[in-house]
Amino acid sequence: MAAVDSFSLLLRDIGRTCNCYMETLALIGALYTAKMCFTFVNDTYTLVRLHFIPRLVRKADLVKLYGQWAVVTGGTSGIGKYYAKELASRKVNIILVSRNQEKLEALAREIADTYEVETAIIVVDFNKGSEIYPALKNVLEDKEIGILVNNVGVFYTHPDYFANLTWDKIWELINVNIGAATMMVHMVLPGMVERKKGAIVNISSMSCCQPTPLMTAYSASKAYLDHFSRALHYEYAPQGIFVQSLIPFFISTNMTKFSKELTPKNFLVPSAEVYAHHAVTTLGISRRTTGYWLHTILFLLGQYIPEWLWAWGTYRMNNTLRLEATLQGPH
Ligand SMILES: NC(=O)c1ccc[n+]([C@@H]2O[C@H](COP(=O)([O-])OP(=O)(O)OC[C@H]3O[C@@H](n4cnc5c(N)ncnc54)[C@H](OP(=O)(O)O)[C@@H]3O)[C@@H](O)[C@H]2O)c1
Repeated sequence: MAAVDSFSLLLRDIGRTCNCYMETLALIGALYTAKMCFTFVNDTYTLVRLHFIPRLVRKADLVKLYGQWAVVTGGTSGIGKYYAKELASRKVNIILVSRNQEKLEALAREIADTYEVETAIIVVDFNKGSEIYPALKNVLEDKEIGILVNNVGVFYTHPDYFANLTWDKIWELINVNIGAATMMVHMVLPGMVERKKGAIVNISSMSCCQPTPLMTAYSASKAYLDHFSRALHYEYAPQGIFVQSLIPFFISTNMTKFSKELTPKNFLVPSAEVYAHHAVTTLGISRRTTGYWLHTILFLLGQYIPEWLWAWGTYRMNNTLRLEATLQGPH
């Protein structure tokens, strides 16, 4: 009898202890659920605040906010071309920078005629490295640059293993994706600081967010731009300079022509025109954004993907693109 008594006492004791554990677990569950709810509400708010509200209200006066001139590197095609047009539609004068004089002149004329703004061109090959910058600096010194769009960038011919890249391609990635943006900022920033206003947009890529196999050097160059932009913002925001890291997913441009899947424009892979139209509205509002609402949803979901799963998924996707491009031959 005594043994049964003590057994029931033991059970009651265990029950009491378990209750305490259950309550603790319930509390952790409630806190986690609250955190998830808060994150969901916050993400939805970010999406609406960034991508929908600015399109409902009057467009920001970029000339007043930042200054009269914008420089867009790699401005003759793709995102750069349409970003330049968007800025011009808001009466910002445009300086286009890229390698091809004819394309530059034609686009500068088109922009000047359509939007009634001033335009200028600079013919330069950023792949030439340090030798180009003294001349570039002299040309830029004449203008009050309010907005700098570091758009120029190169990718591989298609996603590939790092060892398959040529030395020339590796130097091109370093000179164009990293060197150009870094030097351009260094040249225009002092003027912005003097005027206590200015905006710098560095076009990175969603591939910067996690290690992305078969885009190794490209994604690392974009991670550089992302970190560079974010640190620069903390350094210069107190002096009135707005720095944005723009991290798009795939956009249908010359860069994505290696794949039939990425060439047709659709909701997920928008045209450069649609993309630029959305991205410009986030200028001055978000320091780090995809620039496009559907890409922002992907980005928000991507935050919950562990690194191994991201690497596994992107490896599979990029390998499919690699095989597709290899089968197609040179394009
Ligand atoms: N498309 C995408 O899916 C995607 C996704 C994420 C991020 N991005 C980034 O967005 C930016 C723009 O990409 P995009 O797709 O619009 O590229 P794009 O259509 O290939 O245009 C590249 C531009 O850069 C110029 N350019 C290329 N090499 C140059 C050099 N060495 N010196 C001077 N100018 C040069 C080209 O003009 P010329 O040939 O006339 O010189 C052209 O105007 C890049 O930084 C890219 O990494 C693109």
